[in-house]
Amino acid sequence: MKDLIIKELIQNKNLFISGQEISNKYQITRAAVWKHIKKLKEEGYDIEAVTNKGYRLIEEPDKLKTAYLDFKDNWILGKEYIYFEEIDSTNVYAKQIAMDKKEGTIVVAEKQTKGKGRLGRTWVADKGVGIYMTVILKPHMIPSDAVMMTQVAAAAVVKAINHCYQCDAKIKWPNDIVIGNKKICGILTELSGEIENLNYIVLGIGVNVNQTKKDIPRDLQDKSTSIRICVDQKVSRQKLFHEVLEQLNNMYETFITEKSLDEVMNICRQYSATLGNHVKVLNYDKQLEGKAINITSRGGLIIEDESGNQTEIISGEVSVRGLYGYID
Ligand code: BTN
Repeated sequence: MKDLIIKELIQNKNLFISGQEISNKYQITRAAVWKHIKKLKEEGYDIEAVTNKGYRLIEEPDKLKTAYLDFKDNWILGKEYIYFEEIDSTNVYAKQIAMDKKEGTIVVAEKQTKGKGRLGRTWVADKGVGIYMTVILKPHMIPSDAVMMTQVAAAAVVKAINHCYQCDAKIKWPNDIVIGNKKICGILTELSGEIENLNYIVLGIGVNVNQTKKDIPRDLQDKSTSIRICVDQKVSRQKLFHEVLEQLNNMYETFITEKSLDEVMNICRQYSATLGNHVKVLNYDKQLEGKAINITSRGGLIIEDESGNQTEIISGEVSVRGLYGYID
């Protein structure tokens, strides 16, 4: 009921709705309406209550709980929206439910207690300061092509950040977004399938949005930053979340309908922090070194070594000269 009331207030933001109107609409007493309003105020909603006028929403807290209200009806993404105040990991949860859910289901949390990073690492996900979300996708493709979805996510996030803020965000191939020489976003793509058949992909995206310097663990300070630190002001997670989803939806839809990733790969090239730089790649037990010279139409990275030999890699741990983690 509380959710229905806040939905009503959000849809009529800045306008008064009388307690009687809410009470009639949802068949509850006016005392019950007040009880829910009180609870919403405790959750951070700034609601004005005026005798003979009713209730009016002045400001919402910067939470992602009601973000689905702004989703567009024609989106593939967000037909189902699953929200947690706290969870171990949105990726872990998404994998548990993915088989039974429609493509485009979104799992979001304000906080993760066991956020997963790539290669068994952890992802720090403190309450209310970042975007921690996982999208369930079911494209018709073979599992080995799923890496391309990481590029779709990277392109969507980099475009969204640069659209919302002036901060020159770039992609460190294949799945990090950086500002300057530090990371602000990581993407974790996991899948279930057999060699010839993909069941689902879970696309996990973690963005450092409103962390201050002291929120970044000491051992990560030389590698990680946040949008707030970069633009020197607190920013709206809701706005960025919406923009990321809109970009992701549009790029994914183009991929599904036109089978084309041309635009995505052009964005990955245009905003690359990797191309043109010397890179070191650890792929299984092989170490490769050279200059990153191109990103292919399927999202692979072409590296040219000193002798002019070119190799395409489709995944791996890449360190880029000039960015965090590179050792000369
Ligand atoms: C990395 O850079 O290592 C990838 C980090 C991915 C973090 C996100 S946060 C939302 C989703 N749920 C998780 O547990 N991990 C991903």
